[in-house]
Amino acid sequence: MKNKVTFSENGTVIKEFLTLKGYKKELSVLKKMNCNLAPKIIRTEKGIIEMSFISGVSLIDKLIDLEKNGECPAPTASALAEFFKVFHSLNKYKSLGDLNFHNFIATENGEIFGIDYEEVTVGSIYSTTARALAFLYSYNDLSDTTKETFSQTLLSELKIPPHRIITRIFRHIIFLKKRRG
Ligand SMILES: Nc1ncnc2c1ncn2[C@@H]1O[C@H](COP(=O)(O)OP(=O)(O)O)[C@@H](O)[C@H]1O
Ligand SMILES: [Mg+2]
Repeated sequence: MKNKVTFSENGTVIKEFLTLKGYKKELSVLKKMNCNLAPKIIRTEKGIIEMSFISGVSLIDKLIDLEKNGECPAPTASALAEFFKVFHSLNKYKSLGDLNFHNFIATENGEIFGIDYEEVTVGSIYSTTARALAFLYSYNDLSDTTKETFSQTLLSELKIPPHRIITRIFRHIIFLKKRRG
């Protein structure tokens, strides 16, 4: 979903939602996250959330940079696993719907923050992880080595046996392909 996102002079982010449904979902998750690896709510009115700005680079740009510099993506995968653990402990029976890696910010101190919650849906950490890996495997501009190291680390940190999510990964790759057209 493309909402209107503006960066205010006092260093905050103002997000104007296209739908009230998206606004309500994001507000409810941001409240539950309570600033744990997520932006702080500064002000809200119907359809609009002003939140703190999370400084860093998107997760996808981070992985591209690591690859360029010949650095290992495992610590970044561990940081994403930590974000998933926090999200799922604070949001029971939910899954992050949109696992596009632009929706995560890698900070200077090695943490991963989630910033886009309007597509949160019913699910588990298994569905979240399967969607994340489907995004990763569908992304052309990263090497197989990066994808393998990243996914192995993510799965082992979350103690998810690959066979439990492989079908979901394939299903979601097909979904992403169809959506792109
Ligand atoms: N709190 C934030 N801190 C820093 N950057 C943000 C923040 N919220 C949004 N952004 C930037 O704006 C982009 C779009 O915001 P996002 O919440 O993903 O909206 P959309 O639903 O339109 O994808 C993000 O990919 C990110 O680059
Ligand atoms: Mg987004």
